[in-house]
Amino acid sequence: MTVRVLTGITTTGTPHLGNYAGAIRPAIAASRAAGVESFFFLADYHALIKADDPARVARSRLEIAATWLACGLDPQKVTFYRQSDIPEIPQLTWLLTCVTAKGLLNRAHAYKAAVDKNAEAGEDPDFGVTAGLYMYPVLMAADILAFGAHKVPVGRDQIQHIEMARDIGQRFNHIYGESWRAATGASGDPLVLPEVQIDENVATLPGLDGRKMSKSYDNTIPLFAPPAELKKLVMSIVTDSRAPGEPKDTEGSTLFQLYQAFATPAQTEEMRHAFADGIGWGDAKQRLFNLVDDTVAPMREQYAQLMARPAQLEEILLEGARKARDITVPLLDGLQRAVGLGAFSAPVVAKGKARASAGARLPQIKQYREADGRFHFKLVDGEGRLLLQGDGFESPREAGQVIARLRREGLDALHELEQRAVGLLGERIGTLGEGLAGVDEVREALRQLVEAES
Ligand code: TRP
Repeated sequence: MTVRVLTGITTTGTPHLGNYAGAIRPAIAASRAAGVESFFFLADYHALIKADDPARVARSRLEIAATWLACGLDPQKVTFYRQSDIPEIPQLTWLLTCVTAKGLLNRAHAYKAAVDKNAEAGEDPDFGVTAGLYMYPVLMAADILAFGAHKVPVGRDQIQHIEMARDIGQRFNHIYGESWRAATGASGDPLVLPEVQIDENVATLPGLDGRKMSKSYDNTIPLFAPPAELKKLVMSIVTDSRAPGEPKDTEGSTLFQLYQAFATPAQTEEMRHAFADGIGWGDAKQRLFNLVDDTVAPMREQYAQLMARPAQLEEILLEGARKARDITVPLLDGLQRAVGLGAFSAPVVAKGKARASAGARLPQIKQYREADGRFHFKLVDGEGRLLLQGDGFESPREAGQVIARLRREGLDALHELEQRAVGLLGERIGTLGEGLAGVDEVREALRQLVEAES
């Protein structure tokens, strides 16, 4: 089985060397492994929680999209999209909101930190706290659960969010699982509970001043700074005051740590010797600059090209969204039906009334989206044999309407057209499954379905 790995990147700020070594590089490497199906997305709805300057939000999501592609993310191999291009994410957010305990959200670290800060300042506890910040964990749970992700690689500060996603998903499964199984004919649970994945080996890079490289400390080196700026920044890295010729400590040296993050083991060893031999800080910085610049130069070139062609980036991300929605559209369709928001004509199971596994051997109508982007359905018998292959429709709604009519009128109004096409009151809706003698078997399956639902 392939493992679904999903991670989001909040689109605030400009990517720096710390982001590259700590997140981008390892994530892209992992996405190339066999047996994984990777999903990367720009968490641009999340960005609105932290930033309300539209120009900044827009700029950052463009920069971050271009950065990941320039660093080698292959949109053919992975699914790369913008959160805001997937309407099913906010839809699922609401379904989840309605099963999420308010008390759970009260315990979220980010919200609690804001409240504590207010308390310290003698303010009202919720001063300056938006409902967006409060709801952050639910939106994040929807990001993950909408794709049935198994693993979510994140930094340590995000562990609580993944645990909350599990809690919320479990609650939904508990409340609506039975209804979902009855509505869709599927077995198992509607939502997959994700696992957090923390990579222990990933480096946290120090910034110019030796503290963790972070925008909030204003000590970053932008990943794609032009060479002159890169050099200036590298030269400004804080060191001790040892003169050239004096042996230097690699332990605790910002410069050495940065060097190591980009060097091969052999290069690192060489630098270790140079430190012991008393290399001057100026020389060491020059070596670091050369190493980083050699590494980023080809990517910087690629980045500049992508930034110059936003329409091309747009196309890549829209294609990613199409791939992503092949998963989210059918999932949300099933979830809506499970909570009682399906078509009026669709059967709904009262809470606690689903007959355990009674649906298992009944015929089923399955709705799904094909690679052609159209919405299809098929009627299969209890053994999974194809009876009727529905035509593709423009929208899930159109497909849903035809299915509703098929259930309602199929018994009387179904008939065979030319070349194994199947019609409903004269209108073509699909083709007969292979090996079927005629529409009788389709009608019989519909009769069973209707009977089971009444
Ligand atoms: N909250 C994450 C962060 O700040 C970003 C994020 C949003 C995310 N949605 C996600 C990460 C879903 C993993 C899965 O880093």
